[in-house]
Amino acid sequence: MELRKGLEDIAVKETSITYIDGELGRLYYRGYSIFDLAEFSNFEETAYLIWYGKLPNREELSEIREKLASKRELPPSVTKYLMEIKKDSNPMDVLRTAVSMLGVEDTDNSSIMEKSISITSKIPTIIAYFLRLRRGEDIVHPDESLSHAENFYYMVNGKRPSDLESKAMNAALILHMDHEMNASTFACLVVASTLSDIYSSVVAGISALKGPLHGGANSEALKQFMEIGDKEKAEEYVLSKLTKGERLMGFGHRIYKTYDPRAKILKGYAEGITKEKGIYNLYEVAQKVEEVGVKYLGSKGIYPNVDFYSGLVFYSLGFDADMFPTIFASARVVGWTAHVMEYLRNNRLIRPKAIYVGEIGRKYVPIDDRQ
Ligand SMILES: CC(C)(COP(=O)(O)OP(=O)(O)OC[C@H]1O[C@@H](n2cnc3c(N)ncnc32)[C@H](O)[C@@H]1OP(=O)(O)O)[C@@H](O)C(=O)NCCC(=O)NCCS
Repeated sequence: MELRKGLEDIAVKETSITYIDGELGRLYYRGYSIFDLAEFSNFEETAYLIWYGKLPNREELSEIREKLASKRELPPSVTKYLMEIKKDSNPMDVLRTAVSMLGVEDTDNSSIMEKSISITSKIPTIIAYFLRLRRGEDIVHPDESLSHAENFYYMVNGKRPSDLESKAMNAALILHMDHEMNASTFACLVVASTLSDIYSSVVAGISALKGPLHGGANSEALKQFMEIGDKEKAEEYVLSKLTKGERLMGFGHRIYKTYDPRAKILKGYAEGITKEKGIYNLYEVAQKVEEVGVKYLGSKGIYPNVDFYSGLVFYSLGFDADMFPTIFASARVVGWTAHVMEYLRNNRLIRPKAIYVGEIGRKYVPIDDRQ
């Protein structure tokens, strides 16, 4: 039996959801280029595309909008939990527990699709409530007249977004919605394959996304830019990091050996939105880090990834750095649930093997006779 560490290059299922071309730096959802979706689409439309496999017509779009908008408020038990939990709790722990509580509260017999829409609708509310409560601010209840992305911004900031903020919020969420068979999506499938429930699958996905090798690099990238502070110091900083054998955060990817297309798109938004927020100096630092990083690492196929500019965008949109992985989860839940539904259409229990390298036939020794 062959051992493939990290299950690298092992396919677990066929999919028609996402295709990644790591050599050319291309990403497609249901065959549509991520460049087109980020520029012309919005959260609801792309979520529909990922879930149902086609772009919605007007009627289908207004139906999904209405469904997502009407399910945002949390059960009282979950809001109470968010009010009582320690303010310094890890936001991913809080989100994981709150989604688990949603599962306990949901006793109706609706389809996995309906439950997926409901979870997707409520995750921003969980994040925004916790963010405001720990800042000592009153919660802002969801506004059904706003789109998913605009309402998310509104619940965090207590005001409606500008046109650029709304566009950036939609694009950032679209870019995080799916990425084929990453660790968290696989975790969701393992749980789903036992015919457990969709809440348990999503809790597994959040648990896997929490780790710094998966969802946590975006805040680290932002910290780097803040630490450098001035674009003139960027080259020295990058060189000193690389000489010490440390990694440049927001650079490198298992699949992309060129620019991650999501980084290219987010760079444009980061430029505009940092200008609007008066923190353009951070963007200039990032741009210089990118230039120097590509100069020294590009020849090894190490380029900016999605996390390089996303932190700047999320920060400009009013989110705290430790909340960034939860925003990632709020978008990725669409991909998680779509992959679960696709897998369950042809389910087979996921049960790999381990290669035993221990002893066998050892003689049992009574406790008094042991060394
Ligand atoms: C994402 C990541 C884990 C993928 O790495 P991987 O495909 O498993 O590649 P490896 O970790 O085996 O690294 C391969 C080589 O590239 C180097 N490398 C990879 N990413 C690097 C980075 N960000 N900065 C400096 N060197 C890097 C490694 O040091 C290693 O060099 P070596 O062969 O001389 O030892 C890795 O690029 C990384 O740690 N990046 C920083 C964290 C990050 O931005 N994560 C978000 C991913 S979306």
